[in-house]
Amino acid sequence: MLFRCLGPNLVVHTPAKLNLFLEVFGKRQDGFHELETLMVSISLYDSLTFSASDTGRVELACSTVSGSTASDPAAHDLPLDDRNLIVRAAELLRNTTGTAKGVQIRLTKRIPIAGGLAGGSSDAAATLMGLNGFWKLGLSASELQELGSQLGSDIAFFLNSTPAAICRGRGELIESLAIPMNLHFVVAKPSSGLSTANVFKHCRPADQPRSIGPLVQALQHGELRKVGDCLHNRLQQPAESLSIDVKSLNSKFSELPLAGHLMSGSGTCCFGVCGDARIARRIARQLRARQVPSVFAAQPRL
Ligand code: C5P
Repeated sequence: MLFRCLGPNLVVHTPAKLNLFLEVFGKRQDGFHELETLMVSISLYDSLTFSASDTGRVELACSTVSGSTASDPAAHDLPLDDRNLIVRAAELLRNTTGTAKGVQIRLTKRIPIAGGLAGGSSDAAATLMGLNGFWKLGLSASELQELGSQLGSDIAFFLNSTPAAICRGRGELIESLAIPMNLHFVVAKPSSGLSTANVFKHCRPADQPRSIGPLVQALQHGELRKVGDCLHNRLQQPAESLSIDVKSLNSKFSELPLAGHLMSGSGTCCFGVCGDARIARRIARQLRARQVPSVFAAQPRL
């Protein structure tokens, strides 16, 4: 996450993530699933600008970046009221600390919506961290983590600000991971999205869980082909059963010269892995030529 003061305003650039591995163990007492996932934050950012407001309210406006290869037509339908995690994060801060301060938040949306790239969670984490400074609330990192956990499972990863991590539990137990190799991604989103809750509902936890070990080893030894072979997402099968778009996008990816490909999170975005930026850009062009609506090349944020 990048923070910049622009006159009296605060600008935060907050990244998307990909899951290179996601195993689902079982359902817990609290209704969430126990999981183990490897998350990498990537070079695709939403931007939030915080400006002072004397209305005493939280006001959110959103714009998309026209011509951006990642831009998602669904961004025009993004709710700007308390269904939006940005507004919920700001209101949670106000209720927790008792501050009556207002704010205008301008969101520039580049991360596709309902795509498994955690754009909403990333925006919420940026709001918690950004407003903690902007409103001078003085909350500690662990207090922000506690608030984040009330809003969503992926928020812990972004509050931690680590470029890559293995996340366990519900997603909140973060173990940072160094990835000392060149990775490049081609990320694509079909026109439809999926509800995370619905995908988890249709997921049968693993009888024989896959181990994350071989992928971690391949990443640390720079073995691209093995990285491709070790990609795994337990949510992909239920997502494919719910969305023909995910299935057809994955079959398009399987025809391309990539080290491997996978669906991210609960979908619907899928991504391919390769070792060269030029190849990633070329494959992105090929997918666009095959009428995939939203495609972009990205790198891990190191
Ligand atoms: O935490 P988040 O709001 O992202 O989760 C959305 C939904 O996904 C949850 O309500 C739950 O149904 C499901 N989920 C789960 N186990 C997790 C994370 C999410 O079952 N570890």
